[in-house]
Amino acid sequence: MLSKTPPMGFNTWNTFGEDINETVIKETADAMVATGLRDAGYEYLVIDDCWSKRERDPETGKIVPEPAKFPNGMKAVSDYVHAKGLKFGMYSCAGTRTCADYPGSFGHEFLDAETFAEYGADFLKYDYCYKPNTANGPLLYRKMGMALKACGREILFSACNWGCDDVHTWIRSAGAHMFRSTGDINDSFPSMREIALSQIDNLAYSAVGCFNDIDMLTIGMYGKGNVGSTGCNDTDYKTQFALWCMFSAPLMLGGDIRTFSEKTLALVTNKTLLRINQDPEARPCFAPERENDARVFVKILSDNEFAIMLANLNDYDTHLCVFFENLGIPADSGYGLEMTDVFTGESLGVKKEFLRRRIPAHDCECYICKLAK
Ligand code: GAL
Repeated sequence: MLSKTPPMGFNTWNTFGEDINETVIKETADAMVATGLRDAGYEYLVIDDCWSKRERDPETGKIVPEPAKFPNGMKAVSDYVHAKGLKFGMYSCAGTRTCADYPGSFGHEFLDAETFAEYGADFLKYDYCYKPNTANGPLLYRKMGMALKACGREILFSACNWGCDDVHTWIRSAGAHMFRSTGDINDSFPSMREIALSQIDNLAYSAVGCFNDIDMLTIGMYGKGNVGSTGCNDTDYKTQFALWCMFSAPLMLGGDIRTFSEKTLALVTNKTLLRINQDPEARPCFAPERENDARVFVKILSDNEFAIMLANLNDYDTHLCVFFENLGIPADSGYGLEMTDVFTGESLGVKKEFLRRRIPAHDCECYICKLAK
């Protein structure tokens, strides 16, 4: 079974946009190994839009890799990626053209799935641009889902229709393993905040086998690249990563891994946050307390653990209080929570009844907790 836990990897779009080529992919594969990201669980290397020629081959009808970018074809790239112990991802679109105006798979689903299988693909991101108005969206995803089943390779199906047409209500039936639920992220705190807040009520639709995808991370971009905006600072990125982990969201890095600092690497390989993200039960987190855009998020984990995140998404310092009663722990039960800070490893000891903290703007605190008397 694919997607037992939220998929992890890297996608070219945020940093490279159309400037992708064999060298960039090979260097990224090398960097995923050298930095330890592969060993931390980031296994998929996904090539996004702009990899093909502008038109299909007139004779075979197949999509063809752009020779100026991929002079040795896609199988050679895929072989290199596989030799590094990574998995290889491709991109196409349910409409007639991709979002950047390359051939889409509309009407060519089975042929394209076979082509991706020939490349040795393990992952397909499937976009939604240029969908003919008369075409039925759910049916287009079901078609590609069938084509992938028929193609002879196990390929993770990553649907990307930006949350349109109540996608969370039907996408699992198409056999998708993750589904984009929002518009595109850009590298700014407001973009990240809007995306995260928009999905709080849809997290229960995310479960083992198919996860709610709130887009590629911008961690480590600092305003550079293809979705650059104002950029974020390290506090913003810390909160972004913790949110994605609490939400059981796929962790697809979008920054340039070749240039990641030690600090960025430490954040995205934080063992406790990854354990929270990859918890085998994948229970949805819930938000028992709020102060404007600030929230307390709680995720109940396997093995009697809880994760609590005090996420100050406001642009000003905020007091956040979590009452344990609202997690199901009444004061007269005699129980409190033994709390350990996920970022520092420090223990707060056993807290009873509530935890109240002042959190600076955009910052967060995260705790891994156990019931204790
Ligand atoms: C968008 C998609 C992005 C990226 C882009 C490529 O529709 O949401 O993640 O894939 O297309 O053109």
